[in-house]
Amino acid sequence: MDRPETVAQLTQLLRDGGYLADRGLSTALFVALSLGRPILIEGEVGVGKTEVAKVLAAVFGRRLIRLQCYEGIDTSQALYEWDYARQMLQIRALSQRELDSDEAVDKLFGPKFLIERPLLEAVRTGDQAVLLIDEVDRADDEFEAFLLEVLADFQITVPEVGTIKAETPPLVVLTSNRTRELHDALKRRCLYHWVGYPSAEREVEIVLAREPGASEALARKVVAAVNRLRSLELTKPPGVAETIDWVRTLDVLGVTELDAGTVDDTLGAVVKEHDDLELVRADLDGIASGG
Ligand SMILES: Nc1ncnc2c1ncn2[C@@H]1O[C@H](COP(=O)(O)OP(=O)(O)OP(=O)(O)O)[C@@H](O)[C@H]1O
Ligand SMILES: [Mg+2]
Repeated sequence: MDRPETVAQLTQLLRDGGYLADRGLSTALFVALSLGRPILIEGEVGVGKTEVAKVLAAVFGRRLIRLQCYEGIDTSQALYEWDYARQMLQIRALSQRELDSDEAVDKLFGPKFLIERPLLEAVRTGDQAVLLIDEVDRADDEFEAFLLEVLADFQITVPEVGTIKAETPPLVVLTSNRTRELHDALKRRCLYHWVGYPSAEREVEIVLAREPGASEALARKVVAAVNRLRSLELTKPPGVAETIDWVRTLDVLGVTELDAGTVDDTLGAVVKEHDDLELVRADLDGIASGG
């Protein structure tokens, strides 16, 4: 299937892929798929922003192409690079006479020596790809402006080779943790969806979907404890990933009840910031009872 026919069908497909999307997210993704528009997903840390792109690719049998953004990322890491090592080998194999000819030099800058990076690969793959541009807020302004150009027409010009255009656009999913505000121009080009923490009910469901062997009673206790942690103003509040990790940890230890001692012993699964530990240790009973 290329594209779902209804929002409900998309929700079900994602669920079959192990991802529980709420109605808002499913609707936004459905519209993005139907209109061929990029979607920007912002939200808290560890709430399933990256995962949804992976699951989308899996359930539609598309190739997942991931561009991980970071400070200082530039176009050669995003678009293409020339394979210098191979070019050098080729040059050594050429005779002086061949080297003097334009034709041999042109070949050195042909498709054979081009290393595709994610954006070029996505343009070539078109609608058989899900392009995940992950953590776009970590890249700098110039890179964002450059992305905007690529997203505008899905075409990339390699001066030595020519212009390569996507026949059909890939589904583009951008994610951001909102460590900085993105530009209006980029937002305007994209559909937007904010992912917050799931409700307790939903989070229990997510845990059980990911950890089918876990006990529901324990999952409920852990979710309540995690929600208490989220109310403590920590520098790094736990995401869904931490909830799942915590349940796994307790499972491995054979623990079925949460008490202050167990919470203290297993905190490493959920609280990963030294400065947060003090706040947390002052509230062990509250956390254990999920109050
Ligand atoms: N709705 C959900 N359905 C199923 N699994 C989920 C869901 N939300 C989160 N998860 C689980 O949480 C884990 C973390 O999700 P993910 O890495 O996608 O978060 P993120 O929002 O991209 O986090 P970060 O901001 O750190 O990049 C996933 O591996 C997945 O197992
Ligand atoms: Mg992520």
